[in-house]
Amino acid sequence: MLIEELEAALAAAREGIARAAGLDELKELRLAYLGKKGTITQVLRGMGALPADQRPEVGQRVNEAREAIEALLAERTAEMEEKALDQRLAAEVVDVTLPGRPAPRGHEHPLQQVRDRLEDIFLGLGFEVAEGPEVEVDLYNFELLNIPKDHPARDMQDSLFITDEILLRTHTSPVQVRYMHARQEAARTLGRDPLPVRIIAPGWVYRNDPADASHSPMFYQMEGLVIDRGITMGDLKGTLLEFARRLYGADVNIRLRPSYFPFTEPSAEVDVSCAVCGGSGCKVCKQTGWVEILGAGMVHPNVLRNGGYDPEEVSGFAFGLGIDRIAMQVYGVEDIRNFFENDLRFLRQF
Ligand code: PHE
Repeated sequence: MLIEELEAALAAAREGIARAAGLDELKELRLAYLGKKGTITQVLRGMGALPADQRPEVGQRVNEAREAIEALLAERTAEMEEKALDQRLAAEVVDVTLPGRPAPRGHEHPLQQVRDRLEDIFLGLGFEVAEGPEVEVDLYNFELLNIPKDHPARDMQDSLFITDEILLRTHTSPVQVRYMHARQEAARTLGRDPLPVRIIAPGWVYRNDPADASHSPMFYQMEGLVIDRGITMGDLKGTLLEFARRLYGADVNIRLRPSYFPFTEPSAEVDVSCAVCGGSGCKVCKQTGWVEILGAGMVHPNVLRNGGYDPEEVSGFAFGLGIDRIAMQVYGVEDIRNFFENDLRFLRQF
């Protein structure tokens, strides 16, 4: 009776194991036959009721059945594990012949691109690039530029002061006298010639202006300074005309309008004929045919003196342009804030 039960259980186990679809199912089958309450275990328990002379045979059959089931389970388990490994290997295969995934690469910010272009033009005209600090002292930002403490021209540039004497520079003009001092120092200590001076000084400047379409509390300027014997307003005009033509095209023109800056005398606003409409009037030039691009003038004698140069002996011109403003014209950008918001949808266009 027990032997028949055992044979039936063994047959069912064989079939179940052969048909099992996964490792989980094999685990369940092991429990069902060999576990504490498993069929085979039950048979073993039932042996107590047998006459003593039958026990050894039944005991042996139970052990054989147990071993047979263990062997089958082990075989199928190995088979399934191997198959799973093969599948994983096939799924995770690396095709080394495929082209690599390109790493996303950015590009220069449009303001940087325009700055590079302006620098290239002036380097081509024999200028060098000079730099000065963005956190500046009142002395260089104003006083040495002929703007004393109580001068009303200070109102032209609403400043961000850090202490009474330290501020964020409101323009790149402080680099003028900083550079003159450096050249005079090099002349004294190294015997270098302090002439000619031919520099541009690009960099960030700051004003206490609320941001709108054409103003930003932080913007980008480029200063220019030339000092030598016999420099005239003709040199100023010729240099800026050449600059405008290299930037906007050979057929543009410039005009100088009288203006006022404390550090230049005479001073001028410089306009370039509108490169978009050719001067006939359009939205970009507000129907005037001209677009203002920079402020300029002949370096004031006081500024030359403050820099250690003798205004009886040398003269010079200076100019300051807004890089952001030129970038807006070059790219047709109508709101300066676009340059600072870092929206990739905007920046990717350049
Ligand atoms: N520093 C002036 C400004 O920011 C521009 C300027 C520079 C004008 C040099 C004349 C000469 O408005």
